[in-house]
Amino acid sequence: MADALSARLSWRCVVRAALPLVAAALLLVGCGGDDEGATGEPAVALSAEAQRGRQLYGSKGCASCHSVDGRDAAGPTWKNLAGSTVTLEDGRKVVADDDYLRRAISDPWAERVKGYGTVMPRNALTDDEVSAVVAYIRAISPDPSASRSAR
Ligand code: HEC
Repeated sequence: MADALSARLSWRCVVRAALPLVAAALLLVGCGGDDEGATGEPAVALSAEAQRGRQLYGSKGCASCHSVDGRDAAGPTWKNLAGSTVTLEDGRKVVADDDYLRRAISDPWAERVKGYGTVMPRNALTDDEVSAVVAYIRAISPDPSASRSAR
């Protein structure tokens, strides 16, 4: 009797111990297939240059503040950014064309997007890398008139 009980108890422990492992495995499966943390981006075909931009998004730390799925984070999402109208800290509204995007990356403190407390750190992207990132942002902006965030 006592043996059966303790056997059942220890079986329960095994199940309980295994559950987090199962959950972790499911999470891993869920994340599979996305490189460099670019999750939830619009389903669009990426040119070779845009793919390079996507890699830089992960490897240069942009992903820690910018989402590509429309969600607001420490910085504005990149989804539908290119071609959208951005409101700056001083109240001006500008269209996020290539020039604007390049400036926002190369000289992040020159024009600040309204509503963000975090200061974007400077980076050392080369001109080519900036072009690749801009190509990526353009690729994941199929619908720039969609409102990007609540801010
Ligand atoms: C520590 C957080 C942080 C990191 C890391 C970061 N950014 Fe930003 N970024 C911001 C914030 C906050 C803003 C909006 C405020 C501003 O304009 O400074 C912004 C704005 C931008 C904009 C303009 C967005 C808009 O809606 O107009 C672009 C483009 C951009 N970042 C690109 C980059 C790139 C490329 C990288 C990686 C090399 C990067 N950011 C890394 C925080 C960050």
